[in-house]
Amino acid sequence: MSQPKTYIVGNWKMNQSIAETESFFKNLSPEIKHYSGETWIAPQFIHIPLALELAKSTDGKVKIGGQNCAATDFGAFTGEVAAQSLKEIGAHFVILGHSERRAIFGENDQTINHKMKKSLEKNLFAILCVGESLAEREGNKTFDVVKKQVIEGLSGLAASDYKNIAIAYEPVWAIGTGKVATPEQAQEVHAFIRKTLTETSCPAAQELSILYGGSVKPDNVEGLLKCPDINGALVGGASLKADSFYGLCR
Ligand code: 13P
Repeated sequence: MSQPKTYIVGNWKMNQSIAETESFFKNLSPEIKHYSGETWIAPQFIHIPLALELAKSTDGKVKIGGQNCAATDFGAFTGEVAAQSLKEIGAHFVILGHSERRAIFGENDQTINHKMKKSLEKNLFAILCVGESLAEREGNKTFDVVKKQVIEGLSGLAASDYKNIAIAYEPVWAIGTGKVATPEQAQEVHAFIRKTLTETSCPAAQELSILYGGSVKPDNVEGLLKCPDINGALVGGASLKADSFYGLCR
């Protein structure tokens, strides 16, 4: 049985101009070439071709992906982006079920599950995001919420799909707030997610990487990554500048 891999994934959300994207890669490339881990960046859809081109200067160290995709194949879905198109353009992965997609754009577990299936069918690596709101944490609902999101998000997947899946635990109260979960708080939920995977006979319960997201910074990432069930980070704000992104990797 292999160990979970460690990933540092930057979710740029709706940020970074063309000039900022160019400057990020120009500054990152000399440093990241010496790093041996998996480093991934998800820019806005429209900047994916640019990021793919610029990432060539990292000697293949940085893989590029999307922040979302459609749940269906090509068709009359104005404004959507198909998983097939992401794959064809050269994207390696896609982030699905981010709490901003759930809260602002009304995505539910069923839609997210369809997106997982479509992405995996098109050979994209899929990162399933889960996490509770502040009210849910304070109402002692964290485990129930996360369990439902994990089980429904992964429902009906084939055993062979699991080599292309990671889960990201992102407590909503820690996203963009500067309020990072303590390593103990995060580890408790990560261990619970792994237990849930085991109990539901997930074929990759022990190997699947579980990333933490929510106010991760170069100065708190180490404490988080020391935890046995935290296998990487999904990072917003601190992934936007080359020096702090490299700081996370180092
Ligand atoms: P921040 O790192 O800015 O808190 O964002 C986390 C996040 O939402 C990553 O997907």
